[in-house]
Amino acid sequence: MTLDLHDYVATVPNFPEEGIMFRDITPLLADGAAYAEATRQITDYAKSKGVTVVVAPESRGFLVGTPVAHELGLGFVPARKPGKLPREVISESYTLEYGQATLEVHKDAIKPGDKVLITDDLLATGGTIAATIKLVEALGGEVVGLSFLIELTDLHGRDKLTGYDIQALMEYGGE
Ligand code: PRP
Ligand code: MG
Repeated sequence: MTLDLHDYVATVPNFPEEGIMFRDITPLLADGAAYAEATRQITDYAKSKGVTVVVAPESRGFLVGTPVAHELGLGFVPARKPGKLPREVISESYTLEYGQATLEVHKDAIKPGDKVLITDDLLATGGTIAATIKLVEALGGEVVGLSFLIELTDLHGRDKLTGYDIQALMEYGGE
């Protein structure tokens, strides 16, 4: 029997606030076989897309993207929260449920012609990934795929990502 990744996601009602069902991936990360299986599924997808570099937004995106990059022998580029990267950056601001957020990448991190896989733990409203896509494209990279451990289908993040190929290892919604 194959391992079911859903068994390694803990659902926590009313966190971080009333009415939110939090999908906690720390059991998946803590289990070697489950983490390896998730990484393998994304690695297979990346190979099929001809990816040359992996990009992910701080911080949980790093946990998904770095093992994939390592497994493929590819480089990894962090999109970081503001003020963390020491050299010249480009920035993109986006809207969160409450307020604004910004991500930055080093200007020399992506080269024109790079085929980029963007990874994150979760696709919710899509704001984080839409901003990450803008950063990659502003530097001339081609986004060839988006990989998530989890898609929250009720939030329709996909609607912000039309035209991009999306891999979601698990879907939650309609509950
Ligand atoms: C969470 C999650 C995704 C994002 C999804 O990150 O890790 O990156 O929200 O939401 P969206 O699709 O509505 O943009 P968060 O900003 O909480 O930061 P973290 O990864 O540093 O925990
Ligand atoms: Mg995040």
